[in-house]
Amino acid sequence: MKKIESLYLHFPFCTHLCNYCDFYKKVPQNKSQDFDSFHQYLQGAFKEHERLMKENGYSWAPLKTLYLGGGTPSLWGMEGKVFLENFLSSNNLLLAPDCEFTMEVNPGAWEESILNEWESIGVNRYSLGIQSLDGTISKHLDRVHSIGDVFDTLEFFSKKKANFSVDFMLGLPFSKELNRDVKSELERALKYSPTHFSVYILTVKDNYTHYSKLPSEEWIEKEYLEVAEFLKEKGYLHYEVSNFSLPHHESQHNLRYWKSNTVGALGPSATGFLSEEKLRYKWKPNSPVMDIEKLTESEFHLEKIYMSLRSSIGLDISSFGENSISLESIAESWEQKGLAVVDQRQHLFLTSHGYLILDSLMNDLFNLKLIK
Ligand SMILES: C[S@@+](CC[C@H](N)C(=O)[O-])C[C@H]1O[C@@H](n2cnc3c(N)ncnc32)[C@H](O)[C@@H]1O
Ligand code: SF4
Repeated sequence: MKKIESLYLHFPFCTHLCNYCDFYKKVPQNKSQDFDSFHQYLQGAFKEHERLMKENGYSWAPLKTLYLGGGTPSLWGMEGKVFLENFLSSNNLLLAPDCEFTMEVNPGAWEESILNEWESIGVNRYSLGIQSLDGTISKHLDRVHSIGDVFDTLEFFSKKKANFSVDFMLGLPFSKELNRDVKSELERALKYSPTHFSVYILTVKDNYTHYSKLPSEEWIEKEYLEVAEFLKEKGYLHYEVSNFSLPHHESQHNLRYWKSNTVGALGPSATGFLSEEKLRYKWKPNSPVMDIEKLTESEFHLEKIYMSLRSSIGLDISSFGENSISLESIAESWEQKGLAVVDQRQHLFLTSHGYLILDSLMNDLFNLKLIK
């Protein structure tokens, strides 16, 4: 029997909408009614999910990772904790003893007593949405909290010695005009001892409100490489394009995506993957119905290569059979340009420079027909 041992749950509510955000979320109109219908959605989705699992020969194993993302899951509150506790036990979903249970938290959108309740059902890792420590930039992004809330949040999680990650964004509007100095922002954040940083380059559509105030590509590249260098100097491993961790603090949940492993998902717009069957599914936003896509062998192969290259999983050159020799020579040219390293076991890993131009490196592999 194939097993699902990781689950992503999407909580789709926020108190206010940030102008750059493309994740599925809404502001609740009537909190209790909206939460009720979200709970009904999850119950319905679970039944559908059971059907999908049965058809494809899957069962649940005790969860090794559970990720509560959003939206702003820290707003789910006591109702959420009670609901999830019942939901897990009534559906026989167990947490493995060492389960990594992450909850995303927004500054100004959490309460200590309620976090304690969440911890009582297993939450043991937090991901804090900080984005920037520059109050003016935060305002331009329509972040609803104050910069004081941001520091209170960092202080709180640091004092309780929590295992927490901090999200930052690069390429933010007005960076150039305000001469944003991300390194000094990170320096301040480091005082709170996060075990992990996620640093994303902002992506927006052409009609974005502050499109004309976005910094240039050169600015963003410089920012990215400076941040990577800085965090590495401070002891954080650059283990994925946008992720840095202290040793042994990589996100176990996200590693499963990068290894193209099976990860279940529930909640509006959430995406799951049944790896052994190459099945990807995505939940519709308004009813617990999923769109299912079956990857072909070659799509799956391509995706695995992409995921391995974008993370410290890397590529085993010898696994390319008759193409190993061509890959070896490409790897050598990347190495000479400082884009990759090849270790003694003939495993190829990208450097921070390589991560920055991942798509063009994938094109090199296409052009040499190393991948189709
Ligand atoms: C699912 S979001 C939710 C986090 C949380 N609600 C918050 O606002 O901080 C997770 C992370 O994605 C990143 N993110 C959101 N919108 C983005 C965008 N348009 N481009 C790049 N990263 C983005 C942010 O760093 C954010 O913390
Ligand atoms: S709080 Fe987070 S999820 Fe909500 S709109 Fe802002 S960035 Fe998006």
